[in-house]
Amino acid sequence: MRLLAIETSCDDTGVALMDRGRVVAQALSSQVDVHALFGGVVPELAARKHLEALYPLTVKVLEEGGVTLASLDCIGVTVKPGLVPSLLVGLSFAKALAFGKGLPLVGVDHLEAHVFSIFLERRVGFPFVALVVSGGHTSLFLVKDYGDMALVGQTRDDAAGEAFDKVAKLLNLGYPGGPIIDRMAREGDPNAINFPRPMLGKGWDFSFSGLKTAVVQYVREHGDKLKDSWHLADVVASFQQAVVDVLVEKTVDAARRLDVSRIVVAGGVAANSALRKTMEARAGEEGMEVHFPPLVLCMDNAAMVAFVAAYRFAWGEQHSLDLDVSSRATYPRVKL
Ligand code: KG4
Ligand code: ZN
Repeated sequence: MRLLAIETSCDDTGVALMDRGRVVAQALSSQVDVHALFGGVVPELAARKHLEALYPLTVKVLEEGGVTLASLDCIGVTVKPGLVPSLLVGLSFAKALAFGKGLPLVGVDHLEAHVFSIFLERRVGFPFVALVVSGGHTSLFLVKDYGDMALVGQTRDDAAGEAFDKVAKLLNLGYPGGPIIDRMAREGDPNAINFPRPMLGKGWDFSFSGLKTAVVQYVREHGDKLKDSWHLADVVASFQQAVVDVLVEKTVDAARRLDVSRIVVAGGVAANSALRKTMEARAGEEGMEVHFPPLVLCMDNAAMVAFVAAYRFAWGEQHSLDLDVSSRATYPRVKL
């Protein structure tokens, strides 16, 4: 089975070609430079950039894979959750290809794609608990099988990556904030400032807007000290550790309560070195195994969309040209 997958849920344009379960070609176009001017993703601009990138990326991937559109068996495309203008560009492009060549279309959930991104590198046994942490999402799932995901908890306000980006913006560090803070934090003391650990011990939902406000408050009160780069490193290291502690404790606790011994962490924030270190240490103490996808699969990409589209197509799933996008996605909820 040969399929082409398209990912445009946020600000990265991704196209991937999968042949008999293997990704044989893929291309990614980042819009970071465009959105860096605004300190965050501008949906209208993101959609325009997807429109410019999709055609050349698709041609490149097909050429690299040495195949033609007519030889494909299906087109997979992300349809939810995400920025509606961005999703619409990807879906419209996918529909045009499907209609033009009479190919079946398979709509994919972006969070399911993140959860299963690890499977492109290794197979993880079921069941597992999956933490999807990115600029747009912070969701914890119980995953019992392919496509069988139930929501354990999710953020009630900002996503973890969004908190990194907003704090970096506040401190004039640049965009996207996550990798910059990750790097700076290595020079700082994560215990220097005792920022709050929001919602810890209070169920499995997350909230990061209060933590961001605590950093704002700290900066207001200690603005002068921040001119000292050592102190700035302490601030970002302490903020990062607060985010990491909440993510790790809730994930490990949910796994323990659900009697699950495997954890998967995915999404852009899974690249964070403190999160990797702390999660591995805590899970090790609990006798749990942790799986992080390689960095290229943590960020948005179409290979993970291809993986989900492939098993869903193999199940006989396909969608008509009436398929629509959605900014949100719902999942059955696990009661703990
Ligand atoms: O998954 P992704 O590429 O796109 C979304 O779906 O959002 O994730 C991007 C997010 C951004 O918020 C970025 O700041 C964050 O992931 N990020 C990180 C790191 N690398 C990327 N956050 C913390 N530490 C990192 N090393
Ligand atoms: Zn994502």
